[in-house]
Amino acid sequence: PKVAVLMGGPSAEREVSLSSGRECATALRGEGIEVVELDAGPDLYARLLDIKPDVVFNALHGRWGEDGCVQGMLEWMRIPYTHSGVLASALAMDKQRSKEAFRIAGLPIADSVIVPKADVMAGHVMAAPYVVKPNNEGSSVGIYLVHEGANGPPKLSDDMPEQVMVEQYIAGRELTVSVMGDRALTVTEIMTDGWYDYDAKYKPGGSWHVLPADIPSEIFDLCMDYALRAHILLGCKGVSRTDFRWDDSKGRDGLFLLETNTQPGMTPTSLVPEQGEHCGMTFGQLCAWMVEDASC
Ligand code: DAL
Ligand code: MG
Repeated sequence: PKVAVLMGGPSAEREVSLSSGRECATALRGEGIEVVELDAGPDLYARLLDIKPDVVFNALHGRWGEDGCVQGMLEWMRIPYTHSGVLASALAMDKQRSKEAFRIAGLPIADSVIVPKADVMAGHVMAAPYVVKPNNEGSSVGIYLVHEGANGPPKLSDDMPEQVMVEQYIAGRELTVSVMGDRALTVTEIMTDGWYDYDAKYKPGGSWHVLPADIPSEIFDLCMDYALRAHILLGCKGVSRTDFRWDDSKGRDGLFLLETNTQPGMTPTSLVPEQGEHCGMTFGQLCAWMVEDASC
């Protein structure tokens, strides 16, 4: 097939997406697949009409590429594409609404509210420690951690949206599970010297991963089960990745599902490719599977 790899785009995660896209394009070529690399700009529709790909490999992250927008356009154009469809993408990208769905399904989530940015800056919206983040971004873009005993509320940057999420901070360990089709791959524990922020995510050496995670089997199995349930509940397709935090002083009651990512990173420091390899799949095989799994 002729595959167009969509990458870049206008979101705050543009650079991450360019990295994911290049990696996937190279890997697909290595599998003998014809690839066109496409930076997703305002002329995307026309470019696709011109290229006429058999499949779009969606390597976009963040707004417009991960939230159902580009998926809707591809549905309209009847071009099969990788990863989740319109509804699952839109729902997963809205952190608060997807948490609402998780809560109804009995999956453990941390308390959070959506409030005007001005309220956050006027005083503590909830008892510290808490985290302030945009409701619909990824890669820790625009995230603020307010420690217990902090001097006052955070001063949010002008780039932050008018409404933001304030979420109870879960002390403890960072865990993640990739789901591929109907199968949870494994649990990775992410280790950092500090906070798992943008730099820790993408700078080589900024964080390191232990997989399979060295945690009690009860917690391991819960993570695998919750990730698969989250994937199914949101209606995800192809590959997704669900992130957790675990306060190990509280046993199973300390485990919380943070979010499901429908367009998980595929960069050299990303988690999904590593979990695929752990399960015996090369990066090329993983990308080729996604192309085969594409639909519209
Ligand atoms: N938002 C980034 C790409 C991730 O979840 O991996
Ligand atoms: Mg995310």
